[in-house]
Amino acid sequence: MKIDNNNHFIFSGHDTVELAKKFGTPLYVLSEDIIRKNAIKIIKAFEKENVDFQIIYAGKALLNIAMCYIIKDLNMGLDVVSGGELYTAKKASFPMEKIYFHGNNKSKEELNMAIDLGVGRIVVDSEYELELLNHLCIEKNKKASVLFRINPGIEAHTHKYIQTGQEDSKFGISIKQAKNFIEKARNMQGIIIKGLHCHIGSQILEEYPYKIAAKIMMDLIKELKIKYKLVIEELNLGGGFGIEYLKGDSCFSVEKIVNEILKTIQDQSLKYQVKIPKIIIEPGRYVVGNAGITLYEIGAIKSIPGIRKYVSVNGGMVDNPRTALYDAKYHAVIANKVNEKEKELVSISGKCCESGDMLIWDIPLPVCEPGDILAVLATGAYNYSMASNYNRIPKPPMILLKGSKAEIIVKGETYEDIIRNDKIPTWLLE
Ligand SMILES: Cc1ncc(COP(=O)(O)O)c(C=O)c1O
Repeated sequence: MKIDNNNHFIFSGHDTVELAKKFGTPLYVLSEDIIRKNAIKIIKAFEKENVDFQIIYAGKALLNIAMCYIIKDLNMGLDVVSGGELYTAKKASFPMEKIYFHGNNKSKEELNMAIDLGVGRIVVDSEYELELLNHLCIEKNKKASVLFRINPGIEAHTHKYIQTGQEDSKFGISIKQAKNFIEKARNMQGIIIKGLHCHIGSQILEEYPYKIAAKIMMDLIKELKIKYKLVIEELNLGGGFGIEYLKGDSCFSVEKIVNEILKTIQDQSLKYQVKIPKIIIEPGRYVVGNAGITLYEIGAIKSIPGIRKYVSVNGGMVDNPRTALYDAKYHAVIANKVNEKEKELVSISGKCCESGDMLIWDIPLPVCEPGDILAVLATGAYNYSMASNYNRIPKPPMILLKGSKAEIIVKGETYEDIIRNDKIPTWLLE
């Protein structure tokens, strides 16, 4: 590899070629400075508006113990969706009262864990869960503070696999059934109704779906007040703030979107004479997406004349399944040739035994050679958290950058880790 430090890609103040040399590849690189900058931008946007609010980080985007420490330090809440995420938060001594427990099929064990640990809010997703939760709370002589996940019937303009707000969805209670559902919960001994929740999708780059969702939820708040004299104290509008994956992606301003959402809520509360609830949002991607990159080493390169040039890297859908799953788009640079002119159109493929194992289709890059370091950008969200061991490939390590410091926060897996839970049945040993 040609060594020319001036031609190296610098991420969050660090030479990525040096990082690859020191920690190996594939490598997840996460910048604490960028995470903090993103989070503070949202917090400031709310502070400016003078409302009661809470920002919750959606742990599904990327969670590990170090992330919990950062989120705790930022004084944010945490959205978890499984016993595993809750356990991670517990191990990081995350304040349980700031945890929101989501999920469309929480198990009895997970609900018991949440009740025993005293999580702040359980976001009830179905009638089955409501009854189970109530029953478990009564058994323990405890009460759970809940939000109801309402499906407001909105389609946010994004890829269909990440639309979760339309009526035909596995998540939440249909807006049409919401009143009867909530009426039922009012009479439950183990349930304290705190508020409503909705999440209308992900990678949303425009404000109007949020405004429509806020209006629909305020309508429901008004109806609940009129019909049952029920006061809704909290309104959680979910996550979904989009980020810039490709140069030129339209990117909204957080200040503008927060301002528009709050204005809609304020207008509706005035019109309906209902108290403005505490406003909660739970961004994941916006907090960590552009704070992460993944470094790979280029290996096999194959040209099919007149068709395509495949450039393979030493990772792929195992560490980033989003292109294969959602046809997600990414930008990348050759970290050791960052200032060189783009000379060829190539497609970046992974190393898995799967034709769909692609990271990027048709990207212009400088001439790629085996041994070059490829940096795929904006991989902080839904990469590590969605990684698998397909083909028994060990998961890469993750490092955290802060100022000039760089340390491992998740160790890379070894082949021993891969077989750790394997057992040989007795009859095969006979
Ligand atoms: C209920 C809920 N809240 C928050 C999020 C976070 O979304 P994003 O990372 O797009 O902000 C999701 C993502 O699927 C979600 O389902």
